[in-house]
Amino acid sequence: MGKRLAAWLIAALAAPSVAAAPVDPLAPTGHWSAYTAGRAQLPPMGWNTWNAFGTDISEEKILGSAQKIVDTGLAAKGYRYINLDDGWATKRRQPDGHMIMRADKFPSARIGGDTPTFKPFTDRLHAMGLKAGIYTDLGRNTCAEAYNPTETDLPKGNVLEREVGIYGHIDQDIAVYFKEWGFDYIKVDGCGLRDYGPDSPRVRSGRFRALQPIMDSAEVTRANIPAIQAMFRQINAALARENPDGDYLLSLCIWGAANVRAWGKDYGGISRTSDDISPAWGRLLVNYDSSVTRSLYAHPGSWNDPDMLFIGAGDFDADHLTEARSHFALWAMLNAPLIIGADLRKTPQSLMDIFGNADIIALDQDPAGNQAVLAYDSSDLQILVKTLASGDKAVAIFNRGSGAYDVDLHATHLKFAETAPIELTDLWSRQSTSFTGKTKLHVAPRETLIFRAHGTHVLQGGLYLSEQPGSVNPAVDGVVRPTVDPTIFRTAAGWAGTNGAGDRPTYAGWGGARPDSTPYGQILQVAGKQYAAGIGILANSRMEVRNIHNARRFTAMVGIDDSATDKTHPVTFAVYGDGKLLASSPAVKWGEAAKPLSVSVAGVKLLELVARGPGGDDMRLPVSWGEAALMER
Ligand code: GLA
Repeated sequence: MGKRLAAWLIAALAAPSVAAAPVDPLAPTGHWSAYTAGRAQLPPMGWNTWNAFGTDISEEKILGSAQKIVDTGLAAKGYRYINLDDGWATKRRQPDGHMIMRADKFPSARIGGDTPTFKPFTDRLHAMGLKAGIYTDLGRNTCAEAYNPTETDLPKGNVLEREVGIYGHIDQDIAVYFKEWGFDYIKVDGCGLRDYGPDSPRVRSGRFRALQPIMDSAEVTRANIPAIQAMFRQINAALARENPDGDYLLSLCIWGAANVRAWGKDYGGISRTSDDISPAWGRLLVNYDSSVTRSLYAHPGSWNDPDMLFIGAGDFDADHLTEARSHFALWAMLNAPLIIGADLRKTPQSLMDIFGNADIIALDQDPAGNQAVLAYDSSDLQILVKTLASGDKAVAIFNRGSGAYDVDLHATHLKFAETAPIELTDLWSRQSTSFTGKTKLHVAPRETLIFRAHGTHVLQGGLYLSEQPGSVNPAVDGVVRPTVDPTIFRTAAGWAGTNGAGDRPTYAGWGGARPDSTPYGQILQVAGKQYAAGIGILANSRMEVRNIHNARRFTAMVGIDDSATDKTHPVTFAVYGDGKLLASSPAVKWGEAAKPLSVSVAGVKLLELVARGPGGDDMRLPVSWGEAALMER
């Protein structure tokens, strides 16, 4: 008996009979469990103060960019949220704890009487057809209070007055921000839970109260994940209470720490997968890598957030249009939030044209919500493919490196038939070409070619699950001990520069579920047979699959992946439809040929795919749902 099962039984026996039965995480629920509250059916688009201004914000600067968004037609293209980041708060009033904003920087606030209010500001944005976002921190103090080089724009007053984070004030603050001030979006940062330990220089200085850290960006094992999740649950309850119309969006900003790359999808509309972007190519690679292998963790309602756009500065300014276009194209392929971070009052037309590329925006905002999947992977060059609601594909050829490449793009990369013509439309030049089988393309250093592709699906009458990651949720992905993901690029352009010991691997998530790949990045292979399509996941996992196209049949070739080091323990695969068992495989072992599963799912709304193994804490048993597909008949 596995350790996990044993612990489960002991708990069951020890529990009084009135207590709820212990939950078997692999038992079907019949429910889609990823987050769908609020308004993140599509990745949010908009603008944020941070990359352009840091804490040096003002109403004039913000409304200037907001006006540009409207006047240039970007608002009509979907850029809607105008978000305040850190720096808006002046203090938490004592003793009632009401938050006080910087009325000196927001002249419209003076209309609000003795307690300055953002209401005139949000009213103004709403009247412009826009939405308004605000910022807070999970702890008592924010990131800028920990890191800003000067005091000028930081909260003022005594220790308690400078505690402008949400800790201990969740219900009160959410009511102020949403009900009283009229905001529609909140970004919740995490420095307050990380940087104010009793031994930190800030606390020692006597300027801040200590808050025992429950998060450590470098060490996932030092995070109190349930405590962090409990705070987000409480924030969600307050958001739902203060926004009966459901018009709110929760942005999780704990930078890939505390294994949030695995669970952010259950707690917020968007969730940061990495530390902050900076206008440096190396940082773009880090942030992109932290999201690119996580397509199965993004869905309508819950998106990966590799951070805001930094187009307009450094390596992404108007003198670096190749890099700026790559940044935009990649973020669209990732279904990332498209949040502009430039002072639009001064942004050159060449960059405004990038933000305004409607064809690329349409990829990001495609209603199917399928984050792109890696169809070709190497350190220098990657091919990303995204299945659109129409059945067309978007394809990006990304040159990460410093040398040019001639690339063979194959129909097979697109999961299109090799014998039928494929039409490619370049989404920058709008030029179309056509090819059959394969075509040669040239990609310059740091360039991303991006096309919309129309062709014939190689799988007739159905769609592979790996073509619809937006409808597949690894509710339990089988990762028992979160471990750092060694595949994320590590840059010398990190926040510590070359100080310290280097940019060591920090982001957990290694072993998570992946489309067209094993959890550890290899090609799916069972008993010597490779599968170009399929889902790789660990044993003791449960995936929820929405049957959005009303498919009538589910098919797959299931088995233990050849990459498994455990060659003794068997795994059983089961398919549930709306909570009821539809089919299961015999117990299969390493080296056995994959077993075919073919199940009628007519009328089923939600499938659950369960791979049950021996359990135990150190199981690293990759299994393959080879060629898993939903079929019309
Ligand atoms: C953190 C966040 C950033 C920004 C700053 C503000 O670093 O990750 O996006 O909000 O704090 O201080």
